[in-house]
Amino acid sequence: MKLDIDFVRAQFDQLKDDPDFVFASNAGGSYVSNQVNRVMEHYNHHTRVQPYSRFTPSAEAGKEMDRAHHGWAQALNITPDELTIGPSTSMNTYVMAQAIGASWKAGDEIIVTNQDHEANSGVWRRKAEEMGVTIRQWEVEADTGLLDIDALTPLLNNKTRWAFFTHCSNIVGTANPVKEITRTIKAASNARVFIDAVAYAPHHISDLKSLGVDGYTFSLYKVFGPHQSLLYVNADAYPEMTSQAHYFNRGHPTKDFNPAGPQHAQVAACAGVLDYFDDLYQHHFGSTEKSRNAQLQDIHQLILQHENELGAPILDFLAQRADVHLIGKPHTRDNDRAPTIAFKPLKQSSGELVRKLQDAGIGTENGNFYARRLIDDLGIDAEDGVVRLSLVHYGNQQDVERILAALDSAL
Ligand SMILES: Cc1ncc(COP(=O)(O)O)c(C=O)c1O
Repeated sequence: MKLDIDFVRAQFDQLKDDPDFVFASNAGGSYVSNQVNRVMEHYNHHTRVQPYSRFTPSAEAGKEMDRAHHGWAQALNITPDELTIGPSTSMNTYVMAQAIGASWKAGDEIIVTNQDHEANSGVWRRKAEEMGVTIRQWEVEADTGLLDIDALTPLLNNKTRWAFFTHCSNIVGTANPVKEITRTIKAASNARVFIDAVAYAPHHISDLKSLGVDGYTFSLYKVFGPHQSLLYVNADAYPEMTSQAHYFNRGHPTKDFNPAGPQHAQVAACAGVLDYFDDLYQHHFGSTEKSRNAQLQDIHQLILQHENELGAPILDFLAQRADVHLIGKPHTRDNDRAPTIAFKPLKQSSGELVRKLQDAGIGTENGNFYARRLIDDLGIDAEDGVVRLSLVHYGNQQDVERILAALDSAL
């Protein structure tokens, strides 16, 4: 079975705006599905009051928020008490640095990478410095930007408290094998594991229990939804953390890590992403008794195949050119390569090339995309940065053909 791309595209009104425009900047923020807009509109038209009281619009508002909260817990195969819906991933990690880091002491060690977006790097480093904790950096291969598990093992010991890394870099586009890495970390230390999945979740919603991680966060505005971020904290790790909530709310798992408080309409609209996935499932597979997470794994197979077909021709084209330095794996055959494709043109600046692509109707950008440490360590000028073409499953073969033609002429 193949993904019905016409059905998919019909769920995103913004794709109809300009048929000649190719949106290739999805890693910055995706289009919003119609299902999400419907929930948001309903909330604002009918239940826009303080939620969770007994009067009708308030009770309904609370129900809509709970539908999102419980639905996403099912989607991730976790319990509702393990899920916080926060304002952004940068804010979630900032809060978690206070919650996790409060118990660190001099002599402890943490592991961070130079592959991550700064949201999963700076906050932990700053907290470690404050607490006298040793920071060990798991470094990428200088040419490809890929992380090698063999380079991680020597960094682990019985002082390692936490390891922080990304499920998929927003530049390298290649997924890290989180389950295997987590197993390695836990075999060689008592460390807990925290994952930034912002660049991975638009391509695959994981089963978090099977990954074995302790913390996991990603932003729904890149997963066809509202500007919110989901944060998982493993119930087992929860007692080790310091609440960041008002004193009278401490010990309330969904409040402990969200001092911003819930953004009511936005939280409710998170359910719209699941409505979209439900419609996708129903259209391709029909009715089912399967769990929500199992349905998402079925959908993932269709999305993976489709995204590989989008990414492969662009990677083939770029990998063959001598005037381009492609970052990450140059192929999709391992099924771990998102169509988030970054490269450095060698005969012109990234900015120049991007302007030509934009003039040709391709919505793309250049820069360091806040993965500043990675860009610096790859030896690339941090202001000009890389060119990044990022697609998701609503992209189609016409998009790919237009990108290839524009690249050919711009290079
Ligand atoms: C890989 C990655 N991590 C974290 C973030 C930060 O997410 P947010 O904008 O929700 O703070 C981004 C945003 O671009 C990202 O790409």
